[in-house]
Parts: sequence; structure tokens; C-alpha cells
Amino acid sequence: MSKFGKTWWEQQHIKRREKWLTGCTMGKYEGFFGVEFAGKRVLEIGCGMMVATRQILEVAADLWVVDVSSVAVAKAGRLIGSKAVLLSNVEDMLPMDYFDVVISHLVVQHIYEKEVLHQMDYAITALNENGVFAVHYMSTVNGNDGEEQRRQVFHNGGSISRSTSYFKEMLEGRGKVLRQVEPCVFKDTPAGSGRTVLWNGMLVGKP
Ligand SMILES: C[S@@+](CC[C@H](N)C(=O)[O-])C[C@H]1O[C@@H](n2cnc3c(N)ncnc32)[C@H](O)[C@@H]1O
Repeated sequence: MSKFGKTWWEQQHIKRREKWLTGCTMGKYEGFFGVEFAGKRVLEIGCGMMVATRQILEVAADLWVVDVSSVAVAKAGRLIGSKAVLLSNVEDMLPMDYFDVVISHLVVQHIYEKEVLHQMDYAITALNENGVFAVHYMSTVNGNDGEEQRRQVFHNGGSISRSTSYFKEMLEGRGKVLRQVEPCVFKDTPAGSGRTVLWNGMLVGKP
């Protein structure tokens, strides 16, 4: 069982643990993925501190937010009320073929394969024909043996790093990789771990 389950996330949201919730801005999302939110129909998966969420709300044509934490969703309700659609469960009426951008930033490194595949499926189903799923994933590039490199490795208290080829394998039959994002070194790479953790991303379209 992952340490990063629903209850764990709800505790982080109650305690407002910035280390885990992060405070990424819309500009950071845009710079990293090379996407824009102005005038777009946007689904944000994993809202964290909701810094980017509130900025996207100002410019997007429509914003939906899904977060596994009901505490986050309740807080979003207090902050942005009915200006966005807020869901703690994607089975709650997520539309198909609707969004221009679905973004998942700093989320999938916290979840196991079955849930990642589920996220890929619902994110890509929810995209419109020209929509993009902008998804961040973590990789390690140094200090790993071949099998770790190809599959997954646990580090930094349980986060999951995946190689690009493995991440692409997960996407097979689900979505088409439109572009890979230029990787950058993740700031929380543990000192002396012998591993370089990369912050990677892909833009994915309908298959
Ligand atoms: C590390 S924070 C990232 C927040 C924000 N995206 C950012 O980049 O600043 C992870 C967020 O994703 C949420 N989360 C974790 N697992 C999730 C899942 N399976 N589905 C949706 N949200 C999830 C957590 O509750 C938390 O709000």
C-alpha cells in the first residue's frame, strides 16, 4: 500500500504541508509544458495548494478540478465556490471529449500503476479531438541499474520514478505522445543518494 493514499493526502491538506502540496503557479505549468490556459477548457488533476488553480480560473473558459483529497475539494469550494467544477471522484460526471487541456503535475509519482492507467484513461477520454493531456512524471537517470531504469524505483520516502520508455509503454493503446518536454532536475533530489531525479513531462493526445 502506498504511503500516498487518500487518507494520507487528506492529512497533508489538513496540516497544510506545503512540502507535499507544493505551490506551483500557472506560469510554471505553462513554462514546463509549453501550454496555455487562456480561453481553454481545463481539467486540473491534483490541485495541491491551489495557487495555479486560482490563476487558471482567472483566464480559462471553464475549469474542472479533481483531487483525491475531499479536504482539498472542500477547501477549493470555499476559495473558488461555484466558479469551477470540483470533484473528489472522477466517476462523478466527468465529461467525455470536452477539455482542451488536462493537466497532471506532480501527481503520478505518488501513485501506483493501476491508478496511473486509470488516470491516463479518464484524462484522454475527457479530451476533445485537439486536446492535450499534459502529464508530469519523474525519472531517475543515474545510480540505477538497468531494471530500475526500465521499470520503477522508489526514493525520497516512497515516490515512484518511471523511465520515459516505461511511461510510453503505459500509454500504449491509450493515447498518442505528441511531444516530450525538456527535462529538468527535480529540486528535491535527495543529496548523496547517487541518483539524479528528473522532472519530465509529455503532451499526449487522443490515440
Ligand atoms: C504534490 S501535490 C501537486 C499539486 C499541484 N499539481 C502542483 O504541481 O503544485 C499532489 C496533489 O495531487 C493530489 N492527488 C494525489 N493523488 C491523486 C490522485 N490519484 N488523483 C487526483 N489527485 C491526487 C493530492 O491530494 C495533492 O493535492
